[in-house]
Amino acid sequence: MSQTGVKLSVQHLSHSFGSFRALQDVNLDIRHGEFVCILGASGCGKSTLFNAVSGLLKITEGRILLDGRDIAGRPGEVGYMLQKDLLLPWRTVLGNITLGASLTHGATREDRAKAAELARRYGLGDFLRHFPRALSGGMRQRVALMRTIAAGREVMLLDEPFGALDSQTRIGMQQWLLQVWKELSRTVMFVTHDVDEAIFLADRIVLMQPRPGRIAKILQVEIPRPRAMDVLTSPVFVETKRQIMDMLYSEKTLHGVPAAAELPA
Ligand SMILES: Nc1ncnc2c1ncn2[C@@H]1O[C@H](COP(=O)(O)OP(=O)(O)OP(=O)(O)O)[C@@H](O)[C@H]1O
Ligand SMILES: [Mg+2]
Repeated sequence: MSQTGVKLSVQHLSHSFGSFRALQDVNLDIRHGEFVCILGASGCGKSTLFNAVSGLLKITEGRILLDGRDIAGRPGEVGYMLQKDLLLPWRTVLGNITLGASLTHGATREDRAKAAELARRYGLGDFLRHFPRALSGGMRQRVALMRTIAAGREVMLLDEPFGALDSQTRIGMQQWLLQVWKELSRTVMFVTHDVDEAIFLADRIVLMQPRPGRIAKILQVEIPRPRAMDVLTSPVFVETKRQIMDMLYSEKTLHGVPAAAELPA
């Protein structure tokens, strides 16, 4: 961690795909141990931002600092669970969790033992030798998340990890993730389209706007931790949600479609 307490610093990040401006002057400092959610309409550049921070995308302009070191264009410095992160069907749960080690140096006995230990601690112990096809959707997402966690990076980027889950499974996964995050003291950036999920999880919420993709507003979530389900109906939760909905609707788009008031009669 740098002396300022900032773990990750995105500075004046812009990116264009040809003549299309996907990100425009994004600035964001994230503290060590912080949980930051990113909300915004489809196409506003959330995944592009993650691709940039993960080093997979060579950015057009700007700097991305991890502990003060510029990591732009350098993959492997942060953990990244992609929006469509699939498990390899021919590898077991343990084989999937140790995939990162297999790719970088060949998973050692120690890598496997560590991964198995981590998986057991977080409720996957009975499934280590199972193949993904034998798991439920929620369980598969846990394995994909565990793979990102097992890579051992302090900063983790999670792109809509629970997007495909039903709401009941999702709530269980949110509580599970908060437990993992707290116990392993990681720094998390988390993309979601679900406003309740963002408020429940985050210390801060970054609201993005499209065309060009940019940060519109950053909100502090003033809800103490640990958070249980009853916070979802608390006045501060509802007020935070109102502010976010106002902003998302006032930019005319929620998920890339015009708000009802904008449609012709
Ligand atoms: N490789 C690429 N080449 C050209 N345009 C791209 C590329 N990747 C993304 N874009 C464009 O950049 C914009 C931002 O895309 P991005 O995938 O970051 O959006 P997003 O906010 O993650 O959306 P969603 O919520 O649907 O996942 C979109 O208009 C998309 O079409
Ligand atoms: Mg995306």
